[in-house]
Amino acid sequence: MSENDPSREAAATAALERIEPGMTIGLGSGRAVWRTMELARERWPEGPSVRAAFASDRTAELGRQLGFAAIELNGERVLDVAIDGADEVDGDLGLVKGGGAALLREKLVVYAAERFVVVAEARKRVERLGQSFPLPVEVVRFGWPGTRRRVLDLVPEAELRTVDGVPLVTDEGHHLLDCKLPAEGDLHELAAAIKATVGVVEHGLFLGVADEVLLGRPDGTVEELRRGS
Ligand code: 5RP
Repeated sequence: MSENDPSREAAATAALERIEPGMTIGLGSGRAVWRTMELARERWPEGPSVRAAFASDRTAELGRQLGFAAIELNGERVLDVAIDGADEVDGDLGLVKGGGAALLREKLVVYAAERFVVVAEARKRVERLGQSFPLPVEVVRFGWPGTRRRVLDLVPEAELRTVDGVPLVTDEGHHLLDCKLPAEGDLHELAAAIKATVGVVEHGLFLGVADEVLLGRPDGTVEELRRGS
């Protein structure tokens, strides 16, 4: 079970309201999503009657334990909704994601969905993306130091993510560079430039893709941000 945080609990409870029996959904990665999955199991003790595409091996394992029916993304299937967490959220529903190292599959799940609902704690709301969390950039392992040099033409810092001193390898077999975002400048342009860098697979900027953001507060209330409002 994930540890109990009142803000996360509030957001996850609100996210559960976006799931209906019979749906085909996408589930991202991180504590807020995992809590939403646990709440779904509590609501439907026989096993949630939804089919789900999972964005990380860890989420897939939890989904299996909780009785979710697993599906693959086959290029034709459209998910009713994708539910995922975030590391930062701005006022335009822009996100930084990838703290849990699953940003690549998470983006693929989000792009397969009709709607994208973000479940997060209100403390993740920022004025400008990058102010409190580095931007993860997923790069191929081969020649990664050269890719890092090219990324450093675009951002002031880019550090290889390690775990216990060993370079992290993502579910898709890549490394991550945790990058400091510049305090000024157009983030859409920066995102496009990072994406176009040789050796980069994907980055954790999710701009213009979230439809709704549910921000749980410590008092149990939820701020709901919607695209276009
Ligand atoms: C994983 C992610 C997560 O959604 C993000 O790190 C938030 O996780 P948590 O809910 O545990 O704070 O992007 O790649």
